[in-house]
Amino acid sequence: MAATGFASSLLGGRVSLHQSVRPSRAAFRAVPARAAAQVASTSGDAALGFKEMRKGIKEAADETVLTPRFYTTDFDEMEELFSLEKNPDLEMDEFDAMLSEFRTDYNQTHFVRNETFKKAADNITGPARKIFIEFLERSCTAEFSGFLLYKELGRRLKKTNPVVAEIFTLMSRDEARHAGFLNKAMSDFNLALDLGFLTKNRKYTFFRPQYIFYATYLSEKIGYWRYISIYRHLQRNPDNQLYPLFEYFENWCQDENRHGDFFSAILKSQPQFLDGWTSKLWSRFFCLSVYVTMYLNDHQRSAFYESLGLNTTQFNRHVIIETNKTTARIFPEVPDCETPEFWDHMEKLIVLNKKLIAIGQSDAPVVLKTLQRLPLLERFAAELMQLFIGKSLAAGADGVSSSAPIPCY
Ligand SMILES: [Fe+2]
Ligand SMILES: [Fe+2]
Repeated sequence: MAATGFASSLLGGRVSLHQSVRPSRAAFRAVPARAAAQVASTSGDAALGFKEMRKGIKEAADETVLTPRFYTTDFDEMEELFSLEKNPDLEMDEFDAMLSEFRTDYNQTHFVRNETFKKAADNITGPARKIFIEFLERSCTAEFSGFLLYKELGRRLKKTNPVVAEIFTLMSRDEARHAGFLNKAMSDFNLALDLGFLTKNRKYTFFRPQYIFYATYLSEKIGYWRYISIYRHLQRNPDNQLYPLFEYFENWCQDENRHGDFFSAILKSQPQFLDGWTSKLWSRFFCLSVYVTMYLNDHQRSAFYESLGLNTTQFNRHVIIETNKTTARIFPEVPDCETPEFWDHMEKLIVLNKKLIAIGQSDAPVVLKTLQRLPLLERFAAELMQLFIGKSLAAGADGVSSSAPIPCY
């Protein structure tokens, strides 16, 4: 999953997830001990300025409007939607086919580390080391967020729809692998996350099922396009391959693609979420929220993408345009991301965001900071509104079939 923090901040109240959700994978528990051992032998990371909960365990970054979030939903409504008793006509053929795909578990043996990881991490020093750790933390948190949500959905739907429930459980298996792999990568940098602690202590954002479907579909598909684009770029530019994690992205992104396809099947089975003008508005809103969140986040951390030899703006635009084309196959409406006006508003948001960050980092009194922020926030909201009322495309407007080959970035 990728982050949809911005959307959730506009929509979501925060509630506690059902208490039964706990990370069960031994990998999550094993990392801290190993990281603690490594920190004893490697030093110098204190200068990076990260706070530690205890030795080798990184304190999670502060939650902001743009950070990855944990999600929860109305599980009773979910049970209603998928109940075979209440919806005897629910189209199950596609779910049955998908379940057999997920059971095949194509990546069962993919996420195996080798001895090159630690050495590569040790060779990343100075500012690049800091941004690598931040990238890993954000990615790990986003993947773990998917694990928690899918695991709970698998548990809650077991009786009402065993097929859909098992798919959710198998997707949580995938996300557990992804999050565990990233957390082990963090331990290469001597700073792992305590995912059990995060599960219990992080705030959860509530979305109704319809919005969960939009948000998770987009998260999965944008995750797919991010991973495959980085992978293809590094294939063509092996000198920028600073750390072996990216070599795993080709198969990894296929997991995300399958997850996205599952949400596409869910939306098809629930046509009430694709029909009508409100669905169109929400579709456009979620697309824009996800695209704006990524664009601002990545431009705040352009040094990371540049360290891989990527141009942050080009990379982002490519990922957003491709995600939007993919999304247009299922969502009733998507924004038109290929107009100069669209990118003009996105660039203005970056400038405003930078100014807001600078105010936040200044030593000015709180009251003065608030006064300085107000006109910027007003302009920020105006730019968002311009994006929202900008040109949009109806579903299927790209004319690309779902089996189109993956273009190289
Ligand atoms: Fe994932
Ligand atoms: Fe995923």
